[in-house]
Amino acid sequence: MAQDTFSAQRASARTPEDMPTSFGFTTVGEGQKQALVDDVFHKVAGRYDIMNDMMSGGLHRVWKDAMVSVLAPPKSGARSWRLLDVAGGTGDVATRVVRRSNENAKAVVCDINESMLGVGRDRAEKAGLSDLITFSQGNAEELPFPDKSFDAYTIAFGIRNVPDIPKALREARRVLKRGGRFLCLEFSEVDVPMLDKIYDGFSFNAIPAMGKMVTGDGEPYRYLVESIRKFPQQDRFAEMIREAGFEQVTYRNYTGGIAALHSGWKL
Ligand SMILES: C[S@@+](CC[C@H](N)C(=O)[O-])C[C@H]1O[C@@H](n2cnc3c(N)ncnc32)[C@H](O)[C@@H]1O
Repeated sequence: MAQDTFSAQRASARTPEDMPTSFGFTTVGEGQKQALVDDVFHKVAGRYDIMNDMMSGGLHRVWKDAMVSVLAPPKSGARSWRLLDVAGGTGDVATRVVRRSNENAKAVVCDINESMLGVGRDRAEKAGLSDLITFSQGNAEELPFPDKSFDAYTIAFGIRNVPDIPKALREARRVLKRGGRFLCLEFSEVDVPMLDKIYDGFSFNAIPAMGKMVTGDGEPYRYLVESIRKFPQQDRFAEMIREAGFEQVTYRNYTGGIAALHSGWKL
């Protein structure tokens, strides 16, 4: 048991350099990670929203609402304010931003996975937001948008899935206008004694079991949990955002660091 814990800790070292070749705790070849990640999200797309609620006990809604409050999209304005929500999946963040702006803002959801985007398109249509939210397939590492085309860039629970994170951060900066805001919500390192133990027990045991119960397959959920433990710790990720050229980089923890919101500006 002690050996297992030790191995898990080693496997979960949060080394940014490992991110391109770590698929959860499994080391994969150069260039193989994205296809494996895509397979996970093709499998979970249909149950993604319900599983998000189950896995986080609804907390993801609180964290996303907090992110939207920090973003504070304008509720009126002569020109339209545009958000790019990358790895936006089923459009959860984009929907919140557009609603918070009293439908003044427009949003583009960009995701590499057509299955996730398909669920998002249906949701936006049902919510009557199809005119304000558009869905576009694309890779965070090579965004299919011109330079300086968005007022804000958000990415929620997406960046840890992207193999080349520094490249994605540079792309984020490229597509933002001067004065544009970058916000990244991601699972992070828990900094509260005991909470880390409870959280580990819950994530490594309950989440794959719930996934198996709801979708018949626990493996994609094992990846989701392991990938959280590989993602760089808060200060190191803030450094990576600075290295991509963002300024005034800060972060705040939510729920003892289970999630963290990183912010930067293109000035
Ligand atoms: C955990 S989901 C997050 C979805 C949504 N942002 C949310 O918070 O509900 C991660 C998303 O990242 C997307 N993704 C993974 N790699 C990507 C890449 N290289 N470029 C764009 N999206 C990617 C997946 O397809 C998936 O939809």
